[in-house]
Amino acid sequence: MLAPTLLTLRVVAVDAPTSLIKSVILEAQDDALLPGYEPGAHLQVAIPSADGGVSQWRSYSLINLDPAVDTRAGVTAYRLGIRREDDGRGGSRHMHALKAGDTLSVRAPVNHFPLAAPPSVLLIAGGIGITPMAAMAAELSAQKRDYALHFSGRSRDALPFVDELRGFAGERLVLHADDDPATRLSIDALLDGAQVNQPIYVCGPAGMIDAVLAAARQRGWHDCDLHYELFTETAPHAGDTAFEVELKPSGKVLTVPADQSLLDTLLDHGADVMYDCRAGYCGLCSTRVCEGEIDHRDTYLSDADKAGGKVMQVCVSRCRSGRLVLDL
Ligand code: FES
Repeated sequence: MLAPTLLTLRVVAVDAPTSLIKSVILEAQDDALLPGYEPGAHLQVAIPSADGGVSQWRSYSLINLDPAVDTRAGVTAYRLGIRREDDGRGGSRHMHALKAGDTLSVRAPVNHFPLAAPPSVLLIAGGIGITPMAAMAAELSAQKRDYALHFSGRSRDALPFVDELRGFAGERLVLHADDDPATRLSIDALLDGAQVNQPIYVCGPAGMIDAVLAAARQRGWHDCDLHYELFTETAPHAGDTAFEVELKPSGKVLTVPADQSLLDTLLDHGADVMYDCRAGYCGLCSTRVCEGEIDHRDTYLSDADKAGGKVMQVCVSRCRSGRLVLDL
C-alpha cells in the first residue's frame, strides 16, 4: 500500500437499520477530530484472520446523513454500514459482531468515487450501495444542487436509513422495492425519463451496475458521465480452479487455491503489491504479466489492455492457462 495513515478507532454505537445491515459509529480513542473525507470515500478496516495470521483489509464507504456537516473539514465520528454476507470471507461477520467499546484498526479515508460538480445528478443505489450515495446526496442538498436519488432493494424493509434520507432529500428520494410491482425499479423507464449524458452515479450489486451502464450506453451516454462503484469485493466464480504463479524476479512459484484470489495468495507470501478496492475498479493492483493467459475480471483495464495480455488486476482476475508468470 501507499503509506496509508493508520488509525485506531473505538466503536461507540452499533445499530441494525435492517435485519441484514448494521450501522457502526467509530470515534478516535482520545476523542480527537478524525481526518475529513469527500462524499464517496471509504475506510479500510483490518479484519483479524481467524487463524491468527495476517489481517485482511475490507473497504466500507463512509455514510453522511447530515447536509449541515462538512465532512471535508474533519469529523468527530465515522459511520459505516455493513451488510451481512453469510457466504463471504468473514469481514462482514466480524463487523456484525462488533459492540460498543471494541477497537478497530483502519486506514484513513480515500476516495475513488468522487462526485463532480455538474448541475443535475442522477444517483442510483442498490441495497447497501446506498452508503456512498447518502454522502453524495447530503452534499448535493447542502449545495442546493439538483439531484434525484433512486434507492432500490428487495423490499421496503430491506432499505436502510430511509427516514434520515427522507429528512433532507424529501421528494428527491424515490424508493423502489422488487416485491412491489408499483415501485419496482425499471432502469429503462428511469433512463428514458433522464437527459442523455446527465451524470449518473450508481452503486450496488454488479448486476444492477452492469444493467445501468448498458442501458445508458445504449441510449447514447458517454462513459465520462457514468460513475460507479461495486459495494462488495468480487466473489470467486463457481468452477474456479487453482493455478500456479511464478514471480519472475525471484523465481518463486506459488499456488493460488480455487477459493482464494491471486492478490490474497501474493499477500500471504509477503509479496509487495499495492491494492485498495479489491474489486477490480481502482487500478492500484495492476501487475505486469510475462507469460500465461489471463482471465480478466476487472472493470479498470481498457479492452485494448485486456486484449494485449500484458497486464492484469490481481485482486479479481485469474488464469486460464494453469500458470502465470508475473513481473513482481
Ligand atoms: S485493488 Fe483495485 S483494481 Fe485491484
